[in-house]
Amino acid sequence: MIIAIDGPAGAGKSTVCRLLASELGYTYLDTGAMYRAVAWALIREGIDPGREAQVSRQLHRIPLRFSIINACLVISYRDSVLEEELRLPEMSELASLVSRIPSVRDYLTLQQKELARQGSVVAEGRDMTTVVFPCAPVKVYLTATLPVRAGRRLAEYRQKGIAADYSSVEQRMRERDEADENRNLAPLRPAPDAHVLDTSELDISEVVAILKELVRTSAQRDYCAISHKN
Ligand code: DC
Repeated sequence: MIIAIDGPAGAGKSTVCRLLASELGYTYLDTGAMYRAVAWALIREGIDPGREAQVSRQLHRIPLRFSIINACLVISYRDSVLEEELRLPEMSELASLVSRIPSVRDYLTLQQKELARQGSVVAEGRDMTTVVFPCAPVKVYLTATLPVRAGRRLAEYRQKGIAADYSSVEQRMRERDEADENRNLAPLRPAPDAHVLDTSELDISEVVAILKELVRTSAQRDYCAISHKN
């Protein structure tokens, strides 16, 4: 089973997908973390993430591994597991930068498909519903207004003790949305058959409840289709 969820930064994807995955017993596949990890590892290896030719040449030599352990995506670089370092604000722009490089997209798309073969996933990112899992039985585009999204991101930074102010968070978010929506490859946009859900006025539990209902009706639809065939 694949539940594919896309949307811009701050739409609430990570929080609701993590909760949904845990309630369903699925793996939460945070594909943004995979792009962040590539950017982080490139810097560690002394490679400029903005230099496409060099990135493409070196990409497969980087000691980065993606695995699923106890239904969790584990990203490791050499012997260390990467976690909080990937969430630093500067990693957001660097991940968006490397995500425009075709070889990086090909490499991570392959990894994501491979990980989804190991069990049921809630896969979240920018191109889950359009490119990576276009046949997923549940496809959702989560969004919210820019002020709501920027406010959520600011609250997250403050909780982690990261210094930030509203106007710079909003501006960086707007620029990243534009870059993700206007790139040539796998741009951020809702799949034609995705359910579009605006979370601006909803709290986390309401969004999770709506997603669970979509999963339930999709399972029922599949069951009816199978019974009908038999
Ligand atoms: O979801 P996030 O903020 O952690 O993602 C960081 C960047 O990675 C995002 O700005 C664009 C890129 N990304 C992508 O291109 N495709 C994905 N499936 C996930 C993330």
